Amino acid sequence: MSPRPLLVVVLAAGQGTRMKSALPKVLHKIGGRSMLGHVIAAAQSLEADALSVVVGPGMDKVRAEAVAQEPAARVFVQEKQQGTADAVLAAREALAAHKGDVLVLYADTPLLPPETLRALRARLDAGAGIAVLGFEAKDPAGYGRLLTDGDGWLTAIREEKDASEAERAVRLCNSGVMAFRLDDVLGVLTRIGNNNAKGEYYLTDAVEIARAFGAKAAVVTCAEEDVLGVNSRDQLAVAEGIFQKRARLAAMREGVTMIAPETVWLSYDTKLGRDVVIQPNVFFGPGVSVDDDAEILANCHFERAHIGKGARVGPFSRLRPGADIGPDAHVGNFVELKNAQLGKGAKANHLSYLGDGSIGAGANIGAGTIFCNYDGFFKHRTEIGEGAFVGSNTSLVAPLKVGAGAYIGSGSVITKDVAADALALERSPQDERPGWAAKFRAMMAKRKAKT
Ligand code: UD1
Ligand code: CA
Repeated sequence: MSPRPLLVVVLAAGQGTRMKSALPKVLHKIGGRSMLGHVIAAAQSLEADALSVVVGPGMDKVRAEAVAQEPAARVFVQEKQQGTADAVLAAREALAAHKGDVLVLYADTPLLPPETLRALRARLDAGAGIAVLGFEAKDPAGYGRLLTDGDGWLTAIREEKDASEAERAVRLCNSGVMAFRLDDVLGVLTRIGNNNAKGEYYLTDAVEIARAFGAKAAVVTCAEEDVLGVNSRDQLAVAEGIFQKRARLAAMREGVTMIAPETVWLSYDTKLGRDVVIQPNVFFGPGVSVDDDAEILANCHFERAHIGKGARVGPFSRLRPGADIGPDAHVGNFVELKNAQLGKGAKANHLSYLGDGSIGAGANIGAGTIFCNYDGFFKHRTEIGEGAFVGSNTSLVAPLKVGAGAYIGSGSVITKDVAADALALERSPQDERPGWAAKFRAMMAKRKAKT
């Protein structure tokens, strides 16, 4: 770790008009987390001492997201978009108060690996005054070009619109990510002018200005996908794809089996234990953890849920927020749990809705069991004791308690608490008429013959 304090400035003032969205671009999600959230997490991996986010006027939702991070970012407003240097200078107060390194990130570049940022910082540790993250672009059109001397030091960054023919032929491009170790970053940034093709204040001009003061500028290269910028929905989907590919690979490297990894969708915070097996077509929304040895059968959807060790869930199971599946428990097809705990070894194998309740260890929930938890105004709880047996097609009208070891006869609508080890049955007595069907058939056949 570098001994110097670090200030990270995240630029997020761009409107993102190409997204064609009511939502500011940087709040669009990848792996269940906003792009801004991803960039801030990358900054946090460097243990930043201070974090500033620069937003545009009226971007209250972006401000709220920045403030919601841990630790909260300081938010600055860039009143008019006059270029990347002007954007960084919107955080002037933070820059003035800071003694140490400064790292500039873009909030629409969400796939930066922490190792890449560490490598960039390492160049500052090794004495560079500026370190710029560059990449060999498949198609360099639109990017600033990194111009280097014979020893590989960066001499200037030339924006495409200002570049000569020869400079445009350079394929080494500027990602936009820059780190500074200068005595007076503010002094350099405020010297940047706007005498260029776009009439903007280019952050990239900091390289030539700092060099004039005797600083060295270095390039650290990374893969193009690490610095993929998102400007449109199709680029969002590409970024999502890269995120997913990385997340699956990381999970498999930690001991998860995926039969068809390309069909498993993970969130930024999905936690999967050792020897978890995941069949095809499973979606993990945010906040899901799965303990060791659990098995997820095909076609499930999970969000803010926990699956215990050795449990078996699916196929076609839905776990909604607050679902907590105990160790060795089974959840089967077309079973939905919400805000409900299924105890150790308990089973709910078919066609059930279990919302707002708890089910004791070893209990058996029959096919078609419904927790009737909502009266149109309030939600109520259903509590089922250990080892209870709920027969098929039972409606349990909450609030309700079923004691340990109790039996519920199938087809019952249970509205009152059931004592431990009792049988509760709610169904009209069966009426049987011997020989009725045979007589009925004979009568009807005779009637038909007459027509
Ligand atoms: C910038 C770089 C270019 C680099 C490219 C990588 C400059 C002058 N050029 O160009 O060398 O190859 O990024 O994508 O820096 N922003 C603000 N306020 C502004 C302007 C920009 O917040 O006034 C933010 C944008 O929201 C965006 C980022 O800064 O996240 C980059 O801005 P953009 O306009 O896309 O820069 P480019 O012209 O593409
Ligand atoms: Ca851009």
